Amino acid sequence: MDFAFEPYRIKVVERIRRVSREERERLLEDAGYNVFKVPSSAITIDLLTDSGTSAMSDRQWAAMMTGDEAYAMSRSFEDFEATIRDVTGYRHVIPCHQGRAAENLVFGTLLKPGDVVPNNIHFDTTRANVEHCGAVALDCVCDEGRDARLVAPFKGNMSLARLAAAFTKYGERIPFVMLTITNNSGGGQPVSLANAREVAALCREQGVPLYFDCARFAENAWFIKRREAGQQDRAIADIAREFFQCGDGCLMSAKKDALVNIGGFIAMNDDDVVSRLTNLLILHEGFVTYGGLAGRDLAAIAEGLREGLDEEYLTYRIGQVARLGDRLAALGVPCILPSGGHAIYVDAKAALPHIPPAQFPGQSLTCALYLEAGIRAVEIGSLMFEHADPDTGAMVHPDLELVRLAVPRRVYTHTQLDTVADACARVVALGPRLRGMEIVSQPPSLRHFTARLRPLGGGPLLAPA
Ligand code: F0G
Repeated sequence: MDFAFEPYRIKVVERIRRVSREERERLLEDAGYNVFKVPSSAITIDLLTDSGTSAMSDRQWAAMMTGDEAYAMSRSFEDFEATIRDVTGYRHVIPCHQGRAAENLVFGTLLKPGDVVPNNIHFDTTRANVEHCGAVALDCVCDEGRDARLVAPFKGNMSLARLAAAFTKYGERIPFVMLTITNNSGGGQPVSLANAREVAALCREQGVPLYFDCARFAENAWFIKRREAGQQDRAIADIAREFFQCGDGCLMSAKKDALVNIGGFIAMNDDDVVSRLTNLLILHEGFVTYGGLAGRDLAAIAEGLREGLDEEYLTYRIGQVARLGDRLAALGVPCILPSGGHAIYVDAKAALPHIPPAQFPGQSLTCALYLEAGIRAVEIGSLMFEHADPDTGAMVHPDLELVRLAVPRRVYTHTQLDTVADACARVVALGPRLRGMEIVSQPPSLRHFTARLRPLGGGPLLAPA
């Protein structure tokens, strides 16, 4: 892979202040060993998420200044709507303040208790919003997607066999199917156009709509161009549009591939669903032409969607993530292969085989990385996703215990990411000195955001050498 050069100049910078190891130790303990609670001012490199953390361009800032703040039918909405119609091919465009607001609107309209929603893998808020409606979130990713070390081009694909089995087993309890592009919880892996077509065909056969959770659709389209036979000569925007046209609608967190700090939308063709959604939208979010956003946010999203589909930008972007992955691999850090579009996922099960899933190896690694170098990552493993089996009620651990290093867009330099790789290697080399963790207190759902933890039985995270 060539690591394309950054197709931008830096016009504004933000000072990074560094805190001492002693201070990090104190802050982490105060935070209950949960990096969500560590102040951002005490973070050196923040790879908690690629969501809402992009650097906006001069053109986006200019669009913000000329945003139209009219309550209804603003110019900024017109640009937003026209851009999204063009990108997706869907007729109705509904602005929302972020992805989970879109989830709440769609799920709140279409789901009832006992329903089942198949997806390749639901992301955390998606799963929680499905469950909040009393429905079951069913992950049906392909076998390749469950094998951390296997190198395959489209590990985000839905297993057609699992989806067909779900239709057989649950029948009318499935009101729609979702496909997450790229598959965030499974390593930021892409879904092929062929898979989207096959999933869509199965859904059509069953008379059930297919919706895309499309936060990272542009990165997904870039992977299709690079990896799927026959797609090499197409424009990224053409591939993305054809992908959208396989399904019936989409929910987008614009905080990712639309390169903005806040925003989202729903787009689809179904008049009836849209009119039902609209009532909830006006009740909870705002009028149909702003949906909880300012006019300037709509303007920045429209510009960001155009920039986010630029191939040169995507080559740099995904190349930067791959470069981090290659460096980690060279240093012997086990990661999900191949590198994802927006993040590298360290395989905590492989790195810390002495810590069982019930003792959160990913959280132990995440905390150690913060202590070592002030780097904030996020656990994507049992702390985030342990759940009760819908049939037996037994607790199920996810297939993978991961630490995600999510790379914000246009924010960090190659040098900074090199320091991340070096710090990860030092932490993984601590091996058996890292202790497992236990939960001290937790909320009833989405516990990873606010739970308090401690090293097993108390004491320091790092056992003496
Ligand atoms: N769908 C996917 C695939 C996501 O990754 C996210 C958010 C959402 C939906 C929800 O969108 O945050 O705008 O409400 N993912 C972030 C992350 C938070 O860190 O991966 P939101």
